[in-house]
Amino acid sequence: MAGLQAIKYERGNLQVLDQLRLPHEFVYDDVSTCEEAFDCIKAMRVRGAPAIAIVAALALAVELEHKKDGAVTKEDVVKYINARLDYLMGSRPTAVDLSNAIKLLKKKSQDAATASTIDQTQASAEVRKTFIEVAEKILEDDLTSNLAIGRYGAEYLRRQQMPVVTPIDHNEQLRYFTTSPPGTQGAPDSTYRKLSVLTHCNTGSLATSGHGTALGIIRSLHKMNYLDHAYCTETRPYNQGSRLTAFELVYENIPSTLITDSMAGALFARKKTEKNISAVIVGADRVARNGDTANKIGTYTLAVLAKAHGIKFVVAAPTTSIDLETESGVFIKIEDRAKTELTQITGAVVGKDGKVNVNNTARVAIADQRIDVWNPSFDVTPHDLIDAIITERGEVVRSPKGTFDFKTIMPERW
Ligand code: MRU
Repeated sequence: MAGLQAIKYERGNLQVLDQLRLPHEFVYDDVSTCEEAFDCIKAMRVRGAPAIAIVAALALAVELEHKKDGAVTKEDVVKYINARLDYLMGSRPTAVDLSNAIKLLKKKSQDAATASTIDQTQASAEVRKTFIEVAEKILEDDLTSNLAIGRYGAEYLRRQQMPVVTPIDHNEQLRYFTTSPPGTQGAPDSTYRKLSVLTHCNTGSLATSGHGTALGIIRSLHKMNYLDHAYCTETRPYNQGSRLTAFELVYENIPSTLITDSMAGALFARKKTEKNISAVIVGADRVARNGDTANKIGTYTLAVLAKAHGIKFVVAAPTTSIDLETESGVFIKIEDRAKTELTQITGAVVGKDGKVNVNNTARVAIADQRIDVWNPSFDVTPHDLIDAIITERGEVVRSPKGTFDFKTIMPERW
C-alpha cells in the first residue's frame, strides 16, 4: 500500500520511521533487535497502540530470522521467545495491543513446539518459522482491519446524518452530496449533509500499519465524498495532533483545520451555525469489557463536551484493542510520562523570513523548569459517554441501558 508508512518490513529487515523528527524530517531507523525496539517504543519514535505491537512482534521476528544457531532445542527457542517478549512488554503499559500480540505469539510458538515431532534441529527451526509467520500476519491483519474500520465507520456516520430537504443557499449546497456516493445503500435521490468531524491525537498511518483507525474513518469519509471538513486537536502535551495528524491530513489533501485542545468547546458551540461538527472520532489504547475506553489524555474532556453539545462520540478500535479481561476502566494502568513533555518542546527553527529550517531543530524550555508536573499519558472515557465503537467486524452501539455488548462481534472470546 502506497502512502505514509511508519513501518517498513520484509523478512529479516525492519525499518521504523522516527516520528520524533516529524513533520520536519523523514528518517527511517533499522530495528533489528528487541533492545532497539524497546528503545524505539519507550522514546516514542514509534507510537500508537497497533504500531507498538507490530514493531515489537517484528523486531523479534527479525532477530529469529538471523539467529540460525542450529544446535538449540525447540524448548530453548520457546524459552528464548518468551523471555524476549516479557522484556518487550515492559516498554509501554497502557495499550492492550502489545499484550494481546505477545499472548498470541507465545501461544502459537508453544503450539508449534508441541505439535512438532521431527528431529530437534528441524523442530527449533519450525518454531522460529511459526513465530515469524504469526508476527507477519499481525502486520497484514492490521491493515485489513483498518480498511474495514474505515468503511464501517464512514457508513455508520453517514447513517446518523438526517436527509436535508432544502439546502439553504448555493454555498451551502456545496456542502451536500445530492446522489448516493458509489457503493452506498442510500436512496439515490436523497440529499445528505456532508460531515464535519473532530479527531484527537494521531490514529492514522503513522500509528498503525497503514490507513489508520479514527483517522482511517476520516480518510474513508473523504474518499467516499461524505466529508466536509476535519478538525484535529494539537493534543498537548506531546502534540501528536499538530506534529502527526495535521501532517497526515495535509499529505492526503483532506480539507482540515488544526485547533488547540482548549478550543474544542468553542468549536462545538458553533455547531448550529457555520462549524457544524457532527462527530468526534478517536482511537483507543484499551477498551474494557464494559466499553470504558483508555485513549490519549484529553479524550475524556472531548467526550464530556460532545455530550453537552449533542455531538456523536465515536471510538474506532480493532478488536485487538478490546480487552475482555478488564471489567472496567478503573482497572486500566495509565502510563505517567516525563515532566519535560510539558516543560520543554522540540521544533524546527523558523527564520526571520518565516521559513522553517528543517535542518535546524532545537529543544526549548517553555516553563519554569522547577515546576512540579503531572503528566498522565492517557485518560479513561466512561462508556456512557460513547455512542459507538467501530471495529473491523462492524459497529457496537451503546444499548438503551447504556451498555456495550461485544458478544455480538467477538463470540469466540466472550
Ligand atoms: O502516546 P501515544 O502517541 O502512543 O498515544 C496514541 C493514542 O492514544 C492513540 O489514539 C491510540 O493508540 C490509538 S492509535 C490507532
